[in-house]
Amino acid sequence: MHRILVWTGKGGTGKTTTTANLGPELARLGYRVLLVGFDPQGDLETTYGVDDENRSIVRVEQLLAGGVDPVGSIQSIELPGYPGSLSLLPCSPDLNGAIAGLARRRFTDLDVLLEHFDGIMDVALIDTQGALSAISHTAARAADSVIFSMEPGTYEYHALSRRLAEIEDIKRDEGWAIDPLGILFVRCDSRSRHMREYREHFADVDAFGEDIAVFDGHIRQQTSVREHPRMGKPTVLAAPSSNVAADYRALAEELVARMTASDAS
Ligand SMILES: Nc1ncnc2c1ncn2[C@@H]1O[C@H](COP(=O)(O)OP(=O)(O)OP(=O)(O)O)[C@@H](O)[C@H]1O
Ligand SMILES: [Mg+2]
Repeated sequence: MHRILVWTGKGGTGKTTTTANLGPELARLGYRVLLVGFDPQGDLETTYGVDDENRSIVRVEQLLAGGVDPVGSIQSIELPGYPGSLSLLPCSPDLNGAIAGLARRRFTDLDVLLEHFDGIMDVALIDTQGALSAISHTAARAADSVIFSMEPGTYEYHALSRRLAEIEDIKRDEGWAIDPLGILFVRCDSRSRHMREYREHFADVDAFGEDIAVFDGHIRQQTSVREHPRMGKPTVLAAPSSNVAADYRALAEELVARMTASDAS
């Protein structure tokens, strides 16, 4: 199972929106996809209509605590006619407390928990916090590759550059095995002339000892994207003929090509 983290060095850079929309699009391409909520803020959960108060739904922190069958606990999301499948492993604000248990090694690590889904799922997409915290550190340790989502902008460029350097240090010091799949530009204004400049900047950036690629496709700015989670659906399901849905559809195809290339190498 591919374990992909969507990350950056900053908050509000389209991580959750990208995770939530890529899931159904990969299922459309035949993949069995597990969305993993690992941000107690709960935006991925809101996008799929999972309420913090709903105690009947098993959360990732309960699985980390042990004693519950992981595979039987995940939420299946209906996507009629899709050749693949989509499931959700949500978290709740209690994930904050569970992280202390993890630090004391009383809980299973996310890395180990995800092994239960090998052979059952093809891709896990993990959504976490933007900051380098105990939570995002745990998510990154469980991932084998990372998509960096960022808006084209000066602050975002600096935040991502810092994050790349931090990851490189942690990889060296702690032996993290995480590789960059690429940088994704989100919320792009078609009138901006700066996109090309950012692409060129990153074309020269070395990440983890190799060139970091920028995805050919980018995600356009679309005001209605903010409202779709209120319907309990990401944009690709709420407004499948919109620009942003088309952009995520194209991104899923590009991602599959990259995953296939990385499997072959
Ligand atoms: N393509 C888009 N067009 C317009 N708005 C968007 C687009 N993508 C994301 N947004 C909005 O931008 C805001 C930030 O996006 P999102 O929550 O996905 O970022 P995040 O990186 O997960 O944030 P956080 O760090 O808080 O978890 C949200 O209100 C979201 O609805
Ligand atoms: Mg988020």
